[in-house]
Amino acid sequence: MNKPAMIDFATATAVGAPLAPAQPQALHDLVPGEARDSLLAVHDVLRRRLPLGPLATYEAGGGSCSVLPPDLLGRSRVTVVDIDEDQVRNNTYADEAILGDVQAYSFGRESFDLVICYNVIEHLPHVDAALLNFRDALKPGGLILIGAPNPRSLSGVVTKYSPHWFHVWFYRTIRGIRDAGLPGEPPFPTFFHPLVTLPKLQTFAAANGLEMIYRREVESPRYPEMRRRKPLFAALVDAGTAMLNAVLPRGTDVRRGDYHVILRKS
Ligand SMILES: C[S@@+](CC[C@H](N)C(=O)[O-])C[C@H]1O[C@@H](n2cnc3c(N)ncnc32)[C@H](O)[C@@H]1O
Repeated sequence: MNKPAMIDFATATAVGAPLAPAQPQALHDLVPGEARDSLLAVHDVLRRRLPLGPLATYEAGGGSCSVLPPDLLGRSRVTVVDIDEDQVRNNTYADEAILGDVQAYSFGRESFDLVICYNVIEHLPHVDAALLNFRDALKPGGLILIGAPNPRSLSGVVTKYSPHWFHVWFYRTIRGIRDAGLPGEPPFPTFFHPLVTLPKLQTFAAANGLEMIYRREVESPRYPEMRRRKPLFAALVDAGTAMLNAVLPRGTDVRRGDYHVILRKS
């Protein structure tokens, strides 16, 4: 449909080093930091591992913006499935946008080179069903990219155990997103199935023919964002996380609020 709408958004808002080539919209709200670095590393893995030529890409819970870089998006036929009518309506980059539930929706076997499920599994009560659908929809050697919050981080614990109104408040007040919580706008209600926890996800993947070829936990992009937007509030949170890290087992960093993984179908 209208893929060029995706391109170049990030370059308008990104702070820091010049970016080449043009970056996808998904990077637009990632201020410089570990999450942004990891997403760029993910793009490199996808470029190296995906076949040359046209790609069939399935964005599960695609929402209205893709995480793919323009060079991969440009040669992808993108199919989006999302459960939210507004998200489907607002999608500008998919070749096909389907209103549906990724836990139940099944495509023909071996239809796709790549499945992207980015910031979605935390919203699903049946992550196992969704993952098995993704695997079956992949061609052999195909890849699944998952981005998700880390339930074992401070932001993960707070998100998991706080009510939805608090998430809306945080988005509006701390993140400054005025439309937050309106129909079709994030934050979306979270569920946090046990498989969102990274070691459990890795074990489940291995048991179901999916090898984890990329895994990185990153500082939640909310921290650099807060330091920029609300320095006083950020200083308090930073002090709190430093104290927690000091008393928790060595090597723990409760700031690692998100992760990226790439699974490869054998
Ligand atoms: C936080 S948004 C992420 C959107 C997009 N992947 C991104 O990174 O910008 C979560 C998306 O998952 C969708 N979603 C939640 N549960 C779903 C389900 N069971 N099936 C399909 N989509 C779902 C929501 O409607 C929303 O568009």
